[in-house]
Amino acid sequence: EAMPRRSSNIAASWEALKAEAARCTRCKLYKCATQTVFGEGSLDPTILFVGEQPGDQEDLAGHPFVGPAGQLFDAALQEAGIDRSTTYVTNAVKHFKFVQRGKRRVHSKPDAGEIEACRWWIEQERGLIKPPLTVALGATAARSLIGKIVTISKVRDEPLTLADGSECWITVHPSFLLRLPDEEARLSERARFVDDLKRVRKRAT
Ligand code: URA
Repeated sequence: EAMPRRSSNIAASWEALKAEAARCTRCKLYKCATQTVFGEGSLDPTILFVGEQPGDQEDLAGHPFVGPAGQLFDAALQEAGIDRSTTYVTNAVKHFKFVQRGKRRVHSKPDAGEIEACRWWIEQERGLIKPPLTVALGATAARSLIGKIVTISKVRDEPLTLADGSECWITVHPSFLLRLPDEEARLSERARFVDDLKRVRKRAT
């Protein structure tokens, strides 16, 4: 009974997994990216968040959600009353995929083969961490987690059950909010994203 829910072996296994992922060649994306951006956070989290793939800044920093989308994500988490340090944050695809346009590296969507190849890593992360609650940020994350193409608007309001029996909620990706050209839509969609996070927080406690 005095046993902690998570043994220290989990941390060692996670470190080993991360080191192995740093050498990943399961798809071609490792060739152009700076480094593998592995998941990070609590190994006994309240919530596991899954994004799409690292962006330009994440690729350089080696940490998930630290660029513009990460800043929006952090602010939304704070508004929703979720402490990021109690969560684990990872991506469906762990290398940055981009096209070079002059000096800029422009994000390019991972394809089905890349999502499939990288699924191995998220399954290892989830198997180790066993999160009680998972949140897919956007369609790529949802596709990776449930193996199907979903329409966010249709799956947003009900949780799905993953293979391990745990709950999975699907919401928009923070980058979607950054890309909305209309200010009013941006504000209302952002508020809806925060509402989704609040709902998840209530399920987590
Ligand atoms: N977008 C993502 O999906 N993940 C990141 O880590 C950063 C931006």
